[in-house]
Amino acid sequence: MAKLKATKFAKLKIIKSHYTMEKKFKRTTVTSALPYANGPVHIGHLAGVYVPADIYVRYLRLKKEDVLFIGGSDEHGVPITIRAKKEGITPQDVVDRYHSLIKKSFEEFGISFDVYSRTTSPTHHQLASDFFKTLYDKGEFIEKTSEQYYDEEAKTFLADRYITGECPHCHSEGAYGDQCEKCGTSLSPTDLINPKSAISGSKPVMKETKHWYLPLDKHEGWLRKWILEDHKEWRPNVYGQCKSWLDMGLQPRAVSRDLDWGIPVPVEGAEGKVLYVWFDAPIGYISNTKELLPDSWETWWKDPETRLIHFIGKDNIVFHCIVFPAMLKAEGSYILPENVP
Ligand code: MF3
Ligand code: ZN
Repeated sequence: MAKLKATKFAKLKIIKSHYTMEKKFKRTTVTSALPYANGPVHIGHLAGVYVPADIYVRYLRLKKEDVLFIGGSDEHGVPITIRAKKEGITPQDVVDRYHSLIKKSFEEFGISFDVYSRTTSPTHHQLASDFFKTLYDKGEFIEKTSEQYYDEEAKTFLADRYITGECPHCHSEGAYGDQCEKCGTSLSPTDLINPKSAISGSKPVMKETKHWYLPLDKHEGWLRKWILEDHKEWRPNVYGQCKSWLDMGLQPRAVSRDLDWGIPVPVEGAEGKVLYVWFDAPIGYISNTKELLPDSWETWWKDPETRLIHFIGKDNIVFHCIVFPAMLKAEGSYILPENVP
C-alpha cells in the first residue's frame, strides 16, 4: 500500500515538473509591431501592443534581467505610395513626416524602446537585401510567372489597391482590387467589373510577370509540430488562428512585388521589382537591433539562450507565427519566437 502511494506520488511529481518546466534563458529580445509610417499611432495601437510590451519589458528590467526592446517604423508598401501620389509628394516625404510624428508620440507617451529606427535606414536595406539573397542562394524560393494587371499608359504593373471598378457582389462603383469597402467582401483584381487603373484611369491589360515565392507548404510539417504541439501555451486566439491556417494547408507566398517603392530584389532580371513589405518589415526588428548594437546584435537573434518575444497587433498573427518563422528557419542561423503575445 505504502509502495503504491509512493509510486503514485512520484508519477504526479513527474507530471507536475513536466508542466512547470520552463526553459531558462539568459536574455530576452522583445519586439513590438512596426507601425506603418502612413498615419499617426492611435490609442488602440498603444493599448493593444505598445503598453503591454512596455510593461513586460519594465518588469524584466526590474528583475535585473537582460532585455532589449525593439521598435521602429514600417516604411514600405503600397498605401504609402498612394498617399504620396494623392498629396503630390514622394513616398520618402510621407514616411519622413510620419516617422518623426510616431517616434515623438512614443517618446511623449513614455514607451521605453531601446531603439526606434525605420525600414528606410541603410542598415535595414542592406540586411533585408542580404537576407533575401541568402534564401535565394540556398534555393529556398520558387519562381513563378503569373499574369497581372498592367497600365500601358503609366507603363507600370498595378498593385491590387491601384485598380478600381464595380463590385461583383453589391455593384457599387469604386471597389478596390483587393476589397470592396462598401460591402466588405475581399476581392481579387480580376473579380472587378470594368476595371480601371487608379493611376491613369485607363483600362488595364493582363501582362506576364515573374515573382519569387516562399514555399510555405514545404515548411508545414515542422510548423505544425512547433506551434500545435510545442506551443500550446500561446494565447488561444493566436494558437487558434495558426491552427486554422495550418489545417487549411499552407500555400507558397509571393515575397516580391512590381513596385517602385521598397528594397530592390537583389537578383538579376528583377528590375522594377521590390521585396514585399511583409518580407522586409519583420527583418526590420533585426536591422534595428543591429543599428543599436553593431557588434553584438547576433547574440540577441541567434543564441539559443535568447528568448524572443513578438508583441503584435491582431491582424499580424499569420506573419509573425508562420511566415516570419519560416523565413528565419529557411535562413538557418536564427532563433524562433518563444511567444507571440
Ligand atoms: N506595419 C504593420 C501593421 O501596422 C506591422 C508590421 S510588423 C512587422 O500592421 F513585423 F512587420 F514589423
Ligand atoms: Zn461590394
